[in-house]
Amino acid sequence: MPRFADDIAREEFQRIDPASRPRPELLVGPRVTLRPIEETDLLAVAQILAKPGVAEWWPVHSEAALRSDILEDEESVSLAIEYDGRLIGLVMYSEDLWRDYFAVGIDIALDVDFRGQGLGPEVLKTLIAWLIDVGGHHRIYIDPAAANTPAIKAYEKAGFKRSGIMREYELGPDGKWRDGLLMDLLAREFERLA
Ligand SMILES: CC(C)(COP(=O)(O)OP(=O)(O)OC[C@H]1O[C@@H](n2cnc3c(N)ncnc32)[C@H](O)[C@@H]1OP(=O)(O)O)[C@@H](O)C(=O)NCCC(=O)NCCS
Repeated sequence: MPRFADDIAREEFQRIDPASRPRPELLVGPRVTLRPIEETDLLAVAQILAKPGVAEWWPVHSEAALRSDILEDEESVSLAIEYDGRLIGLVMYSEDLWRDYFAVGIDIALDVDFRGQGLGPEVLKTLIAWLIDVGGHHRIYIDPAAANTPAIKAYEKAGFKRSGIMREYELGPDGKWRDGLLMDLLAREFERLA
């Protein structure tokens, strides 16, 4: 069936304008605060990402690489995580702006000294509430390495469900491909922080 005109019209509306998307200013959880990351945070973030326990799961950690990955990448939004007045980590999100696949992916890393206190799930829930309420998202996803058990546990506490294994999904620090676990969370299932 000739649908050429329809297809052109559809094409014009398919991609959401990145400039129209809201950006978070300050997000406040019960214990954590999330704010846009700044140039002066890069060294502290690089040090957090370089520590054993984080570096295995987060490959880019030189200050220069972070600058292009965090400050200059227009596709993703990076927020500093503060706790008790200290920078303790980084959370990033990147939106899929094709209208028919509108969704958002998240990444997070916390300083090893602040892990195991439920701060990661709190950061995620604080950000997810904003992504749903202000960003209008219905689906949020996250893609830890399948072997990253602590992260998977934290993501389940935040409400993510396991979608499936992505075989040989990412290159590990040993130069070998490793499996990833795709996890997602739907807005209608989201349980907010009290
Ligand atoms: C993923 C991450 C943000 C989770 O944050 P968190 O605040 O530690 O999450 P939780 O407190 O819910 O702990 C989750 C699990 O971590 C493990 N854990 C607990 N204390 C820990 C510690 N001191 N060090 C390492 N892992 C610990 C436990 O298995 C815990 O699950 P459990 O409470 O059911 O036993 C954090 O582990 C992290 O930054 N990891 C390194 C970077 C990374 O892997 N990022 C993910 C890329 S997709």
